[in-house]
Formats: sequence, structure tokens, C-alpha cells
Amino acid sequence: MLDRYAVIGNPIGHSKSPVSHREFARQTGQEMEYDRILGSTDGFTRDAGRFFDQGGLGLNVTVPFKEQAWQYADELSPRAQHARAVNTLIKMTDGRIRGDNTDGVGLIRDLDENHGLNLRGTHILLLGAGGAARGVLKALLETDPAALVISNRTASKAQELANHAEGLGPVSGCGLDALHGSKFDLIINATSAGLDGRLPEIPKNCLVAGGCTYDMFYGSDPTPFCRWGEAHGAGTILDGLGMLVEQAAESFFLWRGVRPNTGPVIDSLRHTALRKT
Ligand code: ATR
Repeated sequence: MLDRYAVIGNPIGHSKSPVSHREFARQTGQEMEYDRILGSTDGFTRDAGRFFDQGGLGLNVTVPFKEQAWQYADELSPRAQHARAVNTLIKMTDGRIRGDNTDGVGLIRDLDENHGLNLRGTHILLLGAGGAARGVLKALLETDPAALVISNRTASKAQELANHAEGLGPVSGCGLDALHGSKFDLIINATSAGLDGRLPEIPKNCLVAGGCTYDMFYGSDPTPFCRWGEAHGAGTILDGLGMLVEQAAESFFLWRGVRPNTGPVIDSLRHTALRKT
């Protein structure tokens, strides 16, 4: 029987993970299969337990199960512990399940290795204070920025998240109104506003001329936040497709011990997305 892996989420039909992992396996000559599992919203523990009991070796976990996976794991990596969310479950040789979170490293690899953006000494604005923001916060602070401001529609949640990361770097939290007069080299959208075609209400002039906007989400069309970047003088406008493939590659490495080549997979997913427009 081939080694078995899967992604679990709800909904799951549009997940790009099987395409990425099957391509990684082909590239690196790994004998494995990778499927999609539609998890039941009230049965994550049962669904994940069944997969591992039946011989599964690893799961990617996506919306809405990342917090439940964090609780489910028998042990956690430090980055998963900090994120309070797990996107990768690994069955260890003793049968216990380890939880990890590769979202943060996926974002940084995309910025740094794919787009040559070194964040050391920069001023970063992270929009949103939900699970998506929590998943990347530690990795962002590890790049040694001059300042990282978390800003959220509900200011108290941004402040709580900043308090949670205190000691990891120069981080603060505030509401969106408090951004007036501030300037950032990089603005990252980690809100779910774009899913409804909306944008967080940020001041017009808070991006430095030629700065970078990064939307952690992506679609076949430019997202509302990418359009905001275009209209507000961004020199580099990125969406989350690269991060998606990079976080998958890190999961693949955790499971199989080999690093796939992500560039061709990003290109191929980009072309598939464009063909659907
Ligand atoms: P996720 O796990 O995807 O981060 P979440 O935990 O529900 O999802 O968090 C959604 C984030 O998007 C929150 O920061 C939310 O702001 P609030 O905390 O004020 O709810 C933010 N968000 C969603 N819709 C938004 C909108 N239209 N404008 C601004 N922020 C929005």
C-alpha cells in the first residue's frame, strides 16, 4: 500500500493541496498518495482519528479545523504552540501525532526567496487578528523588522494578539483608525474581508511609495486588496498563491524529508487559475 496523506477541511472541493503534493511527489520520486477529506464540522477528532487508525501518515488541516487540530495533536512544535493553530499533522514512529504550523514559514519563503524581499529593518502592517494573522506572526517577527503593527477592525483583538507575541519582537496592536499618519513598507492582509469582496478600511496613504502589499488570499482575479495596492502606489503586489505552495512544501518536507521545487508548481497553479477567468 502507498503511504497515505490527505488534506482535511470543510469545504474542501477547491483545495489546491492535492495538485501541489502530487506534483512534489512526482518531482522527488516519492511513492505516496494524497487525497481530500471533507471533514464533518462537529467531528474533526473522529475523522482525523479514523484516517490515522487506517494507516494514514500525515494530514494537512485547513479551515475551519486548524484550532481543533491544535487541540488534537499529542505534541506541538514551538511555532504551532505559538500560533494556537495546526495546519500539519504528522504520525510519528511511536504512533503519537505531532502538530506543526507551516503557514508562517510559507509566507516568509514566498516574500524572501520567491520575491527577494528582505524584511529586516522594515515597518510592517499586519491587517487582521484572527487565525490567519496568528499563524504568521511569529515568523514575521523572526525576520527582525523595525516594527510590526497588528491592526484590526476590533482593536481589542489586535492588542490581545500583540500582547501574546510580546517578547518576540517590536510588536504593537491597534484599531484601523489609529493608522492615520503611519507609513509601512509592507502591508499584509490577513483579514477575511476579501471573501465578501470587501476591504479593511485603512487610510489611503499608509503605504510608502513603491512599497509592497501582500494578500494572504488569492483568486483567479486580482483580490480587492491587490487592487487597493495598485491604486495606492505599491511597487510589488502579491497574493497568497506562493504562500499556499510554500506552506505545502514545508509540510511535504516534514513528512518525507525532501524539499520539492516550488517554482514550477506556483507557475502551473497560476496558469490554471488564469485559464478559469
Ligand atoms: P481567520 O481564521 O481567517 O483569520 P477569523 O478568525 O474569523 O478568520 O478572523 C477574521 C479576521 O478578518 C478578523 O480580524 C476580522 O476582524 P474582526 O476581528 O473585527 O471581526 C477581519 N475581518 C473580516 N471581515 C472584515 C471587514 N469587512 N473589514 C475589516 N476586517 C474584517
